[in-house]
Amino acid sequence: MSQQPPPRTVVVLAAGAGKRMKSGLPKVLHPLLGRTLVGHVLSAAAPLAADRTVVVVGHGADQVRAHLAEIAPQALPVLQADQLGTGHAVRVALAAVPDATGTVVVTYGDAPLLRPETLGGLVEAHERAGAAATVLAAEVPDPTGLGRIVRDADGQLQQIVEQRDTTPDQREIREINAGIYAFDADRLRDTLGKLSTGNAQGEEYLTDVFGLLRSAGEPVAVHVAPDHTETLGCNDRVELAGLRRLLRDRVNEAWMRSGVSLLDPETTWIDVTVALDRDAVVDQNTQLRGATVIGAGAQVGPDVTVVDTLVGPGATVVRSHAVGAEIGPSASVGPYAYLRPAARLAEKSKVGTFVEVKNSEVGVGSKVPHLTYVGDATIGEQSNIGAATVFVNYDGVRKHRTVIGDHARTGADNMFVAPVEVGDGAYTAAGSVIDQDVPAGAMAVARSRQRNIEGWVLKRRAGTAAAEAAERAGRAGSPGVSAGVTASEGEAMHVGTEPAGGACSTGDTATD
Ligand code: UD1
Ligand code: CA
Repeated sequence: MSQQPPPRTVVVLAAGAGKRMKSGLPKVLHPLLGRTLVGHVLSAAAPLAADRTVVVVGHGADQVRAHLAEIAPQALPVLQADQLGTGHAVRVALAAVPDATGTVVVTYGDAPLLRPETLGGLVEAHERAGAAATVLAAEVPDPTGLGRIVRDADGQLQQIVEQRDTTPDQREIREINAGIYAFDADRLRDTLGKLSTGNAQGEEYLTDVFGLLRSAGEPVAVHVAPDHTETLGCNDRVELAGLRRLLRDRVNEAWMRSGVSLLDPETTWIDVTVALDRDAVVDQNTQLRGATVIGAGAQVGPDVTVVDTLVGPGATVVRSHAVGAEIGPSASVGPYAYLRPAARLAEKSKVGTFVEVKNSEVGVGSKVPHLTYVGDATIGEQSNIGAATVFVNYDGVRKHRTVIGDHARTGADNMFVAPVEVGDGAYTAAGSVIDQDVPAGAMAVARSRQRNIEGWVLKRRAGTAAAEAAERAGRAGSPGVSAGVTASEGEAMHVGTEPAGGACSTGDTATD
């Protein structure tokens, strides 16, 4: 439209009890793929650029008000203390904005699938036609329980009849009232004053406004929604789950059409607040939630939950859980990693299997491959942390930081007792408890020296299978076999002290 639209006021009805949800949480606050029900409704209405948004609250008013203050501080909550019907609810809303003119858009807080395009289409058609009232209608497979659109012989809207007030003929009508409307403010205000409660439920029906306007010779119109699922409301948790599946399919389809691969859309749940870049691949059983962003070509899944996390381009995340983390470009996470808030993994870094990271930086190209807790640490670039390491960050009262430099190689089974620093290029021996700083380039050994008590098993465990094995080894003339170190299993870094001379060797190469 080239013309400037009239002023607009949005009214969201959200005072109902939602009894069938059987919940301590007001119905409109139930979550659905990244927003509450009422959050979805407000975001669908946002492009209308209304001068004012009024939310009618009643049941759970305090909780709803608190939520609105968070997600839509510009919205005006208005209390409808007793729920005397949808007409009464709109009357209460308009009383709070007595100067509202132009268009009044009414929608329900529990109809979250309405697309902004459909709501915009309704409002524009209404304003273009100069109608007194326009109702959003939909053709549904099963109209039970809903208000019917009753048209006259010319196909013009005659009235809207509630299920309980229908005649048997009217009950056959499958065109229903979605409960979403555009009204001319002045004519709405006048007509609301004329509503009666002479109906099956003894309520002030907003729908009666249409019959009254029509009888007064005012133009009323019907706008048909392109997809009836958009008009679905939600009365219980079974219906909510149905809405969730519909929204999931809608969101997933949009991402696939924009160049993202979803290998198993049925088990992929992407919040409406998430963004994905081209050629991202999402494997099965994956939830992407909140303010998550997935970069181009990143591979996420299978079995991943990612919340409020940035996944850089080309990164891989497999069978892992991340909350409030940043995963750098081409970084690798999992299988079975847990990234907690402020875990920041730089480009090409790796956090591997059974590794938990919290409030820590892992520098460019650095690796934490196995069985490790990294808490409150800064790890420089190109460093390798040995398997089964714990960054001991908590003294029972306060948290402290560990700093590991660049190109460091720390041994398997280390404890870094913070606050402590390991310098650039430094090594630490396997099994060390590092509670003092390690200078750059040094090898730190912090464990007791090994002592072998020869023949102990033969003497103290005579007759056991171990003793027999030891005896056989002795006869075969290979006394060294039983003393060999086998724990490193090739992969884990083995840093040991040499038996003679006291010099240190790093044993195996770094893990990968
Ligand atoms: C209403 C319509 C019906 C339509 C259906 C679509 C009327 C009389 N009927 O019926 O034609 O097909 O929606 O879903 O309008 N609410 C308040 N205050 C009240 C009453 C209701 O805020 O006093 C809110 C409820 O929280 C709910 C919405 O308005 O979000 C609809 O109310 P509800 O009583 O469920 O109306 P329906 O019987 O579903
Ligand atoms: Ca309803």
